[in-house]
Amino acid sequence: MLTEAIPQEIREQLEQKRGQTNATAEDAKLIGAAAFEAPREDILIDSVIALFLGKNVLLKGPTGSGKTKLAEHVSAIFNQPMHAVNCSTDLDAEALLGFKTLSHDEQGRSQIVFIPGPIMKAMTKGHFLYIDEINMAKPETLSLINGVLDYRRSITNPFTGEVITAHPDFRVVAAINEGYMGTVPLNEALKNRFVTVDIPYLQGEALYKLLKSKSVLRDDKQLRTYVQLSADLLTLIEMGQLPDEAGSIRALLDACDLTAYIPPMRAVARAIADKLEDERERAAVINAAETLF
Ligand SMILES: Nc1ncnc2c1ncn2[C@@H]1O[C@H](COP(=O)(O)OP(=O)(O)OP(=O)(O)O)[C@@H](O)[C@H]1O
Ligand SMILES: [Mg+2]
Repeated sequence: MLTEAIPQEIREQLEQKRGQTNATAEDAKLIGAAAFEAPREDILIDSVIALFLGKNVLLKGPTGSGKTKLAEHVSAIFNQPMHAVNCSTDLDAEALLGFKTLSHDEQGRSQIVFIPGPIMKAMTKGHFLYIDEINMAKPETLSLINGVLDYRRSITNPFTGEVITAHPDFRVVAAINEGYMGTVPLNEALKNRFVTVDIPYLQGEALYKLLKSKSVLRDDKQLRTYVQLSADLLTLIEMGQLPDEAGSIRALLDACDLTAYIPPMRAVARAIADKLEDERERAAVINAAETLF
């Protein structure tokens, strides 16, 4: 799992640490799978090195480019459970940090207990925290965690007044899909607390291997055609004729799967073209596919 390209010193320390994990069976279920195919080697290596050095990593890339897969992959490399937060405009302090609730002890007496949220769990247990679509959250919610992300590595729990300092193994991986509808540019102070890694869509031979291993479509010629379609769609994206999401590998995989049972043009319409807003964009995808299938 650890490629030769990761500096030996880091590789040895990671191997050693992996052997000493003390995650409970419940937490171990949160360790991701190493299933990310790196479009370029530096993407995985730099993410691993930054995390090894205790930095927070921000994955930047369009939808369906494998950001979540990469986060799971590094969780596997570090053998650390990963707690996830999905951001939206109604994400609040409770969802991030936890909340107080009434519980009953063995004698039936009621007491107020604090149920830790994903940040608190990851910080105290020394696990990974994955903050998905971090630019969807309201700035005032995110500003709560500025102190967690810098040298202080601590937060005052507003519900209990307790100051929590992160376990040394605590790490943050966040993902952002810039320019996507509903997102706001990430606040500079927050962005500044991350090492950023750009994730492009997988292409060429590596994409072919991914489609071959992940799709139920077995026809090799058709799989190759989908790799070509993906390259053509990326060219149209670069020319400004299609939005980024038209290149999604997730959508491409869906199209391949459907093609195992329905004609490819219909699969392309269902999985890729029809979800685009603009009539001209839909036509551009269909045109690109028609020249190939
Ligand atoms: N580089 C990659 N390696 C492995 N799988 C990939 C890769 N790129 C895309 N995929 C596949 O595409 C799908 C989408 O990947 P993933 O969910 O990680 O994307 P994402 O960038 O997190 O998208 P979103 O921004 O929509 O959350 C998954 O099914 C995954 O298997
Ligand atoms: Mg994702």
